[in-house]
Amino acid sequence: MAEGMEEWLCDSNEAVSLQMVRSEEDSAALAGDDLIALAPFSPAFTYPIFGEHEKIFGYKGLEVQLQFASGSLKQYLSINQDEVLQSATPADDIEGKLYEFIPKDYTKSEESFQEVVERDAVAFRPMGDKVGSYARAAAAGKVKGKGKAKGKGKANGKAAVEEVKEDDEGAVVFEMYKATWATPGFREYHRRMQLFILLFIEGGSYVHEDEDAWEFITLFEKRKRPESDVYTYHFVGYTSVYPFWCYPDQVRLRLSQFVILPPYQQQGHGSKLYSALYQHVLTRPEVAELTVEDPAEAFEDLRDRNDLRYFVQQGVTEDPNFLVDVGSDKRAGRALWEMGIRKKYKIAQRQFDRVLEMLLLRQLN
Ligand code: ACO
Repeated sequence: MAEGMEEWLCDSNEAVSLQMVRSEEDSAALAGDDLIALAPFSPAFTYPIFGEHEKIFGYKGLEVQLQFASGSLKQYLSINQDEVLQSATPADDIEGKLYEFIPKDYTKSEESFQEVVERDAVAFRPMGDKVGSYARAAAAGKVKGKGKAKGKGKANGKAAVEEVKEDDEGAVVFEMYKATWATPGFREYHRRMQLFILLFIEGGSYVHEDEDAWEFITLFEKRKRPESDVYTYHFVGYTSVYPFWCYPDQVRLRLSQFVILPPYQQQGHGSKLYSALYQHVLTRPEVAELTVEDPAEAFEDLRDRNDLRYFVQQGVTEDPNFLVDVGSDKRAGRALWEMGIRKKYKIAQRQFDRVLEMLLLRQLN
């Protein structure tokens, strides 16, 4: 780069900001920690769009805003800057680069976007079959109901999250939906949500739409509008899995992508989505096991914690075989036990070994 040009370079992770937008009424209904759902957030990675150095050339004071209608994920793009470089080397074509990665029906008109947000707030419904749900207390006010709150406490500096019953007054419900390419409207929806894979998973890339066996589970926050019977849905995250043939007549489901949007991270939603997927896998006789493709460290932690909790709940550590020394004369029985557990819980060998080791360490403590 020519000398003196550095001042025209900006960090694309800092210049781009993302935001989930709700209707005026739905935004006004939020309070306390729930307001974080409306706050702008930054991408973790932008190299797939702006190149490996994650720099945009040719602007000063650049702000690239990509807003999403919180449920339908329809998009609004706004690019503003203080100055654009006028020289023989042209400034980067920001919209042109983004254009390759987002659906073409985004708008650049604030007014039309607001109309879409208001319309979709009530019209949008998640696609596919509901495969799970749970409820949390809204930050705005107390939950009234018979259900005793559990899971209280502060973790990672985030506010306490109370688990409540779905029909408690003031409960916010989270619902998960399973979809495939055959689910009406889902293909278009996926084209809008897949950008989060590029922006938040290191090494993440778009799945091929012509591979027809992809399965998805999406997670939504469902809110009841005060004093009305209207429910609205807001996108939280999703996971995608792909089935591979597993000898002789089953499939191995490989989890490929998993993302929870930053405003919802560190509140247990990732764990709920993973558990729902896992429970769903256990109900399917044709699935031999669930494996994970190239897991990020944070995801590996999440998976370990959840598998560990589940195995303890299932009483695996209570079984007399659990503490059998693998060098003892009971090792054949122990090996059979392990095989049975692995089959029953559809857990891949490597993960099973990790979980067993963690269970043994836990026992020692
Ligand atoms: N209140 C506060 N904190 C909580 C609560 C709660 N109720 N429940 C869990 N936590 C804590 C957990 O203890 C955990 O803490 P730790 O990190 O110290 O162990 C932490 O929050 C994370 O657990 P969850 O909240 O269940 O997970 P989260 O919803 O944040 O999702 C994930 C984790 C998926 C990694 C998310 O951060 C993300 O999407 N990251 C970006 C994309 C990514 O890396 N995806 C995985 C790629 S790998 C692949 O796709 C195969």
